[in-house]
Amino acid sequence: MSHCNTRVICGDILDFIEDPAIAGDKAHRFFPNGALVIEAGKITQFGFEKDILPQLESQSESIELVRYDGKLIMPGMIDTHIHLPQTEMIGAYGEQLLEWLTEYAFPTEKKFSDRAYASKVSKHFINELLRNGTTTALVFGTVHPQSVDAFFSEAQQRKLRMIAGKVMMDRNCPDDLSDCAESGYQESKELIEKWHNVDRLSYAVTPRFAPTSTPEQLKKCGQLLEEYPDTYLHTHLSENKDECAWVKELFPESADYLGVYEDAGLVRKRAVFAHGIHLSERELSCIADNDAAIAHCSTSNLFLGSGLFNLKACEKHGVRVGMGTDVGAGTSFSMLQTGNEAYKIQQLQGEKFSAFKGLYLATLGGARALDLEGTIGNFNKGCEADFIVLDSEATPFIKFRLAKAKTLHERLFALMMLGDDRCIEATYILGENQYRRDRTPQFVETTS
Ligand code: GUN
Ligand code: ZN
Repeated sequence: MSHCNTRVICGDILDFIEDPAIAGDKAHRFFPNGALVIEAGKITQFGFEKDILPQLESQSESIELVRYDGKLIMPGMIDTHIHLPQTEMIGAYGEQLLEWLTEYAFPTEKKFSDRAYASKVSKHFINELLRNGTTTALVFGTVHPQSVDAFFSEAQQRKLRMIAGKVMMDRNCPDDLSDCAESGYQESKELIEKWHNVDRLSYAVTPRFAPTSTPEQLKKCGQLLEEYPDTYLHTHLSENKDECAWVKELFPESADYLGVYEDAGLVRKRAVFAHGIHLSERELSCIADNDAAIAHCSTSNLFLGSGLFNLKACEKHGVRVGMGTDVGAGTSFSMLQTGNEAYKIQQLQGEKFSAFKGLYLATLGGARALDLEGTIGNFNKGCEADFIVLDSEATPFIKFRLAKAKTLHERLFALMMLGDDRCIEATYILGENQYRRDRTPQFVETTS
């Protein structure tokens, strides 16, 4: 039996070690004709192929070489906010947040009381993540514990690093989607006991958002976080103006929207707040001071007409930011497309958003938002070898455009504007290939 203990991936290798807004050109590392070395599912080293290969060969190890010449090798993308049950109603017409929830999201989520259905959707959902080069995600289930059980089972089978939680909501929602402070607590606790820190899975305590939880339920969330300090907190924050006004009415005692979560002890490290569009200086400072994070969901913010995310203010306050697709209010599973729309949101505010910034947020920035730097997000020694292969020649047109790119940034930026799942040639999990794109262009011959 042949044992292959070292795998070497050759291609143009790119990753990030810092935020480009802080470190400029020193934020990324780029090795054209590079080699990435993997042992037992982890990165051991990377650099130029001409330096790495002779050294490995001299150690006469058995190595398996995989060549992706001219292709870009990057860490897997990290989606810091997405809804499993909304996969099937993505692209629902005509409403802003609160009406969209009652009209589309809630009815769809009811289907997840059926474990078999949740399991079927989980398979499609994970396939779609891998097809888009997303290797880790922070995932909303539904109020039904079986939605999360089904998702974790599927993710575990595929050895993925995933974070998920059952929705908690005990008011302002349909009766058959409602738990109560006590049952929500108990069901979450059982899921934590069953799944948290099992293989590569982690649990996120998931109150939907302030309007659908009583203060008692939010307190119970705080209690769970105290009992299990390394679990996550995952919720929505300050997405829509009507939502913000409603929160003010429902929680008159709290300082502001974030204050509602703060009062329940939810603003902390490993807390991830989706959106955070209409935040005050106080709220931004509070998020930064408590080491919590924001998931910026560009396609969703434009689709629901929620508003323009102030990335510069987050940078100023030192808030950790990741990017989320927020499927199904978001319109794409692709983190490239999410970067594309994030660019436009900054343009509308007269700010720049480089491809370096976009790809940083999709990888190391996401890892930092999830408190997983050193585990995923870049190619540092010891990191888990979840990575993707990006094809700059995915379609004749993309090839035509990218052939004109003179600099690395131009290549990456055009890729972020034009690219999506078509550009993901392969996705690797712990050094193993789990997805390979099947591309057979079919031009039918014409005779004149
Ligand atoms: N706020 C509360 N629930 C949701 C949801 O499902 N999607 C979005 N985008 N915002 C929310
Ligand atoms: Zn959401």
